[in-house]
Amino acid sequence: MRFSILVLATLFTGSGTLAYPTPETPTEASYSCTQYPSEFRLMNSRFPSREFNPSTWFMALRQQDDTFIVATQVQFQGVDANPVSSCTLELVLPAPNATLILGPNPQLKVYQAARDPITPVTWLDYEGINGGTVLGKVDDLRIGGVEQGKVIVVGNAKCNETMTFHVGMAFPGQEWTNYWDFVQVNPPAVPVRGWRLTHGC
Ligand SMILES: *[C@@H]1O[C@H](CO)[C@@H](O)[C@H](O)[C@H]1NC(C)=O
Ligand SMILES: *[C@@H]1O[C@H](CO)[C@@H](O)[C@H](O)[C@H]1NC(C)=O
Repeated sequence: MRFSILVLATLFTGSGTLAYPTPETPTEASYSCTQYPSEFRLMNSRFPSREFNPSTWFMALRQQDDTFIVATQVQFQGVDANPVSSCTLELVLPAPNATLILGPNPQLKVYQAARDPITPVTWLDYEGINGGTVLGKVDDLRIGGVEQGKVIVVGNAKCNETMTFHVGMAFPGQEWTNYWDFVQVNPPAVPVRGWRLTHGC
C-alpha cells in the first residue's frame, strides 16, 4: 500500500524522469492486523489418560492440595509465522452473565507448549505439572469487575505455524477451590470473547 502511493507520487510530480523509490525493508507495522481463533481441549487430573475435546468450552479448576485440577489447552493453527516474529496472546473478557468465576483467588497461569496441530492431549501433557515455561498470568478477573470486551494482554511469543498454550489456575493459596469457565465465541459471531492470538495489531 505504502509502496504504491510512493509510485503514484513519483508519476504525478511531472519531473520527466521516472524514478522508482528504493524498496523499503518491511517492518512489523506495515503488516495488517491478523487475529486467529482458537480450539480448546481439556486436561483433567481425575481422568489422566482421557481426552476431552470440547472445542470452545474453557475451564480452569484447582482444588486445595491439588486433589482435582482441570486446565485447558488453547491451540491456534495456520498462524502466519513469516512476516513478524512476535505474536501476542490475548483474552477478550466475556460478559459477567456469560461466565462463572468462583473461589477466593481465581488467578490463571499460562504456559507455552510445543505441540503438533490436532494431536490428542491428556492430563499427563499439562505443562503445569511438567515444569513448563510460564508465558504470563491473569489476575483475579473480578478485581475491577468483569467488563465485557475488555482485552487482557497475556504475553508475547515467537510466531509459529501452530501455537499452543496451557491455561490453568495458579495455586489456590487458601482452603478453597478456584474455578473459571466460559464458552469461547469466535468471529464472525458477536460479541467475540475468549482467547485469541494477534500479530501486527
Ligand atoms: C447478559 O447481559 C447483556 C448485557 O450486558 C444482555 O444483553 C444479555 O441479554 C444478558 N444475557 C443473559 C443470558 O442474561
Ligand atoms: C511449531 O509448529 C509446528 C508445526 O505445526 C509444530 O509441530 C511445533 O510443535 C510448533 N513449535 C512450537 C514451539 O510451538
